[in-house]
Amino acid sequence: MDTALKYLEENRKRHQELMFECLRMETVSAKSEKEGEIRRCGDWLVKLVADMGFENAALQETGGLPAVYADWLHAGADKPTILVYGHFDVQPPEPLDLWETPPFEPTIRDGRVFGRGTADDKCQLLIHVFALEALLKIDGKLPINIKLFFESEEEGGTGSTPKFVEEHRDLLACDAVMLSDTAWMDEENPVMMYGLRGISYFQADFKGPNRDLHSGRFGGVVQNPIEAMATVIARLHDEKGRIAVPTIYNDVVPISPEERAELAKLGDNTEETKRYLAVDALAGEEGYSPFERNWARPALDVHGIWGGYQDEGSKTVIASKCGFKASMRLVPNQEPKKVFEACKTFIEEVCPKGVQVNVEFYHGGEPLMVPIDNPYLRCAQKSLEKAFDKPALLIREGASVPITATFKDALGALPILMGFDVPTGNIHAPNENFILEHFFKGMEAALHFYRDAATV
Ligand code: BES
Ligand code: MN
Ligand code: MN
Repeated sequence: MDTALKYLEENRKRHQELMFECLRMETVSAKSEKEGEIRRCGDWLVKLVADMGFENAALQETGGLPAVYADWLHAGADKPTILVYGHFDVQPPEPLDLWETPPFEPTIRDGRVFGRGTADDKCQLLIHVFALEALLKIDGKLPINIKLFFESEEEGGTGSTPKFVEEHRDLLACDAVMLSDTAWMDEENPVMMYGLRGISYFQADFKGPNRDLHSGRFGGVVQNPIEAMATVIARLHDEKGRIAVPTIYNDVVPISPEERAELAKLGDNTEETKRYLAVDALAGEEGYSPFERNWARPALDVHGIWGGYQDEGSKTVIASKCGFKASMRLVPNQEPKKVFEACKTFIEEVCPKGVQVNVEFYHGGEPLMVPIDNPYLRCAQKSLEKAFDKPALLIREGASVPITATFKDALGALPILMGFDVPTGNIHAPNENFILEHFFKGMEAALHFYRDAATV
């Protein structure tokens, strides 16, 4: 047996213990009081990779939350340099009462490890660390040059980290970026992902009369802000499920007939999705399959809405203020700021008179496409097939990893998306989990990739 694979086999228990240690740190980037936990986890990762033989291992200040950098650059100038990316921040664990076991006390049940950050993205990040450890331990060297770059701002829209990347092009220069921060379509088939959607996140605040009003004294006289907001939200889509914001489809690259044919081969998952979600119908843009709508067409969703009286009993009031948060998922060649401006203008236009609306940009990330004939993508696909002994499907993803577009633009390096999460991984939700077998098989796939990338 391959000695590096044997090393991984023999170190399963140790790797699992280290993974648990990492998961116990409460690295919630959304909460400022958790910055200490983020730094503790960053220091922990620095020490972990320095002890393995990585050099220049240090916490890098980005202006926001820190990133971990380390490198091993002794494979020779003729060998490729791969930047390995991951994020060690996690989403807030709330609501806590829906967790079967506490979010920061990793627990194994049914072959899965449960805890916040298991699938997104700590186990996936550690897969690469441990695969590289095996190569360093067994061969005393790596077959290619490696730079490690782990951020802690991803879950908040990636903060100051893209600026850090733009300002450290030499430090981070590479031939390709390898990351595991995505999911399979099911629990059986590995996937090679070649596209991610971008995002443009914003908030709309509505203000009507200068104070809350008795609805009997003023009802029928003033524009109710909540009704104005409802009007705006109802106008965001037309009756064909298209986004009604003018110009919004102008930059959208149509799905090519070739790609439509490929996606059609994946089948139609409408019935399966309806069953999984217990809904009697799906929604979205007419004329496109669910895969097409989710991966290759823009979408606009409202995430939260507030205003007026929501407590027990009744209250006859016209609230002075209300608001909502929303985001649009973007496809090539939509630009986050441009999309935001179009939404802002539209919302201001359709907002009924007597109520003022203020629309503010939160964060954005560009969409990503990787040509499917890219040699590193092909190499990763073959590595998955070797490890899992099955063909890896070529698919896109509807979610976003904002910094991937920065790697492409600022470093000229294409991100290779080799993820191991599954649809039942509950990411961002209670009972987040990761299949243990994917943790260990993932290391095998990563090991094949780092070896085979030497001859790409
Ligand atoms: N790892 C996810 C993205 C993801 C989720 C890829 C599921 C594939 C399958 C990432 O951490 C994430 O949550 N991204 C956010 C970005 C946002 C906070 C800017 C997203 O997509 O909402
Ligand atoms: Mn993630
Ligand atoms: Mn996430």
